[in-house]
Amino acid sequence: DMKNILVTGGAGYIGSHVVQELLKRDYTVVTLDNLSKGHRGAVVGGVFVQGDCGNSMLVGELVKQHQINAVVHLAADSLVGESMTRPDKYCRNNLGNGIEFLTALVDAGVRQFILSSTAAVYGEPEYTPIDEAHPTRPVNVYGGTKLMLEQILGWYEHAYGLRFVALRYFNAAGADPGGNIGEDHNPETHLIPLVMQAALGKREKVTILGTNYPTPDGTCLRDYIHVSDLAVAHVLALEALQAGEPSAVYNLGNEQGHSVREVVDTVRRVTGRDFTVEEGPPREGDPAVLVASSRKIKDCLKWQPRYGELEEIVRTAWAWHSNHPDGYQS
Ligand code: UFG
Repeated sequence: DMKNILVTGGAGYIGSHVVQELLKRDYTVVTLDNLSKGHRGAVVGGVFVQGDCGNSMLVGELVKQHQINAVVHLAADSLVGESMTRPDKYCRNNLGNGIEFLTALVDAGVRQFILSSTAAVYGEPEYTPIDEAHPTRPVNVYGGTKLMLEQILGWYEHAYGLRFVALRYFNAAGADPGGNIGEDHNPETHLIPLVMQAALGKREKVTILGTNYPTPDGTCLRDYIHVSDLAVAHVLALEALQAGEPSAVYNLGNEQGHSVREVVDTVRRVTGRDFTVEEGPPREGDPAVLVASSRKIKDCLKWQPRYGELEEIVRTAWAWHSNHPDGYQS
């Protein structure tokens, strides 16, 4: 049976959507998450194990016990700003534990691996939309650790025959339309959930971080992609590896840039709520424009977004936040 999957970070925002999608498609799922950021309530089924992916003994046992064929690795620290002030934390958790994890997997015989990667591997874009051939020169530690893991996977492939797919997400957003799982970070730093909290009256105001960028309205352009569309891409990537396809790297975005002001206006329109918006200085390490070309994954894996419009993404996010104003504690 090739349907036994280990998902690390499966209690996190993106991971919980991946687990749900795998379960829908009749995969047997074991979630490994240390709950440093994730929520137990976000794991909707399968086996849940609380623990560290850097614990080689535990990983070896899980692979044996559950006859794991493939792994989806999302467990990581993922805050760009924090990574610049605490590089040690990111190197230890994302790289150190990542390498321990990979080594335990190859020792236990696993040869298929999906890596949760990021647009942050590209750094300041030299052209846009960004395709996979764009130079990778990360400008933050977070993106650096993900790029190094991608490179390490290449070396493990050469030595041990481990095949992998690295999925470079742009801006994950929205929530599963089923309504049971969604975004819940503490502290929250992401634009859409922050604006939702302001719309709910749970936050005094929203601050636009930078208004003098070389963009049409002076605020940053980002490529928002629905988290359920991301989840489906993981399943397609697994199927490709199981079909014997070679290792690959894919971008995942909607190929459209939306400005911060546009996001704020869309939330006002979708929610019918008003809230205070102020303008502030730019955040360190924020590129002006990050827009993906997703041509490659559309061509090679036949991936197609279901929720490609910002308005739909915001609508599903609002359904989650308005029903769970305190996240998983609601
Ligand atoms: N923004 C604001 N005000 C806020 C928060 C964010 O104006 O209070 C702006 C940011 O400056 C940025 C945009 O909204 O222009 C989106 O910011 P997010 O923090 O939501 O997302 P990022 O683009 O910074 O980061 C996301 C992921 C990272 C990943 C990166 C890759 O969170 O993990 O995309 O592009 F590395």
